[in-house]
Amino acid sequence: MLKDSLLVEGGHPLYGKVRVSGAKNAGLVLMTASIMADGETILDNLPRIRDVEVMIQILNDIGAKSKWNEDGSLSICSPAGSLKNPTSYELAKKLRASNLFLGAMLGRQAEAVVSLPGGCDIGSRPMDLHLKGVQALGAETQIEHGYIYASMKHGRGGRVYLDFPSVGATENIMMLAAKTPGITIIENAAKEPEIVDLANFLNAMGAKIRGTGTDVIKVEGVEELKAIRHAIIPDRIEAGTFMVAAAISGGEILVENVIPTHLHPVVAKLKEMGAFVEENDQGILVRAGEKVMPVDIKTLPYPGFPTDMQSQMMALLCLSRGSSIIVENVFENRFQIVDELNRMGAKIKVEGHTAVVEGVKTLYGTRVKATDLRAGAALVLAALAARGQTVIENAIHIFRGYENLSEKLNQLGAKVQ
Ligand code: UD1
Repeated sequence: MLKDSLLVEGGHPLYGKVRVSGAKNAGLVLMTASIMADGETILDNLPRIRDVEVMIQILNDIGAKSKWNEDGSLSICSPAGSLKNPTSYELAKKLRASNLFLGAMLGRQAEAVVSLPGGCDIGSRPMDLHLKGVQALGAETQIEHGYIYASMKHGRGGRVYLDFPSVGATENIMMLAAKTPGITIIENAAKEPEIVDLANFLNAMGAKIRGTGTDVIKVEGVEELKAIRHAIIPDRIEAGTFMVAAAISGGEILVENVIPTHLHPVVAKLKEMGAFVEENDQGILVRAGEKVMPVDIKTLPYPGFPTDMQSQMMALLCLSRGSSIIVENVFENRFQIVDELNRMGAKIKVEGHTAVVEGVKTLYGTRVKATDLRAGAALVLAALAARGQTVIENAIHIFRGYENLSEKLNQLGAKVQ
């Protein structure tokens, strides 16, 4: 078998319990925000995944020494004085979230140089809203040779209206506003749970942020933030992926360490599809229904259906009794998985932002390629239900965002190598 591939033998229903790791997207922004205080920040519940390892490399490179502790937490030590700016395009290409250093660096030392991330597997990743936000707070920005150069002389809180509730732009503006004198108001802000975790983290450091989880966030700038210890929220996308694993494999899984409200859009759709879903004290229990009913899905910013769960749901809908329509409203390239699923026997047609999934009786194992992180996870799910063996190439995409995925699946009865 090729290096960086996963081999999945289909046809084994998954049963048992699985414990969800900390949220990738919260972990990455908290790691970045930690440089806004001097001293030692300790993060608990951070997943050991490829993206986090790349972020550790960046932190070490800029002078904020990071290391894993014996108890599984990560220490990030920011020295007093200036940090080097994270200018490497090689790392920015690997980790889009490195653009979060724009707000964090400006907030820390009034100067930031950040590589433009360029396009990526799931679509174009513009930075216009990030720039509009930091400019409204008084930053001067220039784009030269693929880098954003930003500096802040007389920062002052301001009012920012985001044309789209971008997660990254909201985070960058919150971080900068936390250290900028005066009041900042972010309107049409993103409401994702990871934004709330960032606010809880910054507030524990001494920031004054209110309103996260709604579309208007108010930040009163403070002079100093202090380093703290914080536990990251559970990963709702990993949880959702295991919930689909139960439904697609014909099994029953208790998904532990979840915040059920974060998963309501996914739970609602799984129930519509005929799965049995129950929230209890230990987590969310999902049992496959007798058949998968077709449903329509539209991805939207939180609390709408998450784009990061769209591919996994598509895999499940391939085996439904009818036709489903999926509309992708957040990232334009999120249908690259369609050709791979069709190679496994699915019947999916794409027209612009819309995919029509006609259910088939069986999927068949073959050689497929993970085109991005969530598409990779969705191919693993399809492979669990497929007849025969599936080889998923480019599995490195999957390791970017899932901690011990094969081990966790195998403990539930899957056959993944
Ligand atoms: C974050 C998540 C990603 C998730 C996405 C949407 C992290 C590390 N990644 O990505 O997993 O899929 O939220 O929930 O947290 N946009 C602009 N201009 C901008 C910024 C964004 O037009 O300046 C557009 C993007 O092209 C995209 C949409 O806004 O179409 C959403 O992007 P955004 O919410 O910014 O996603 P990320 O923060 O990059």
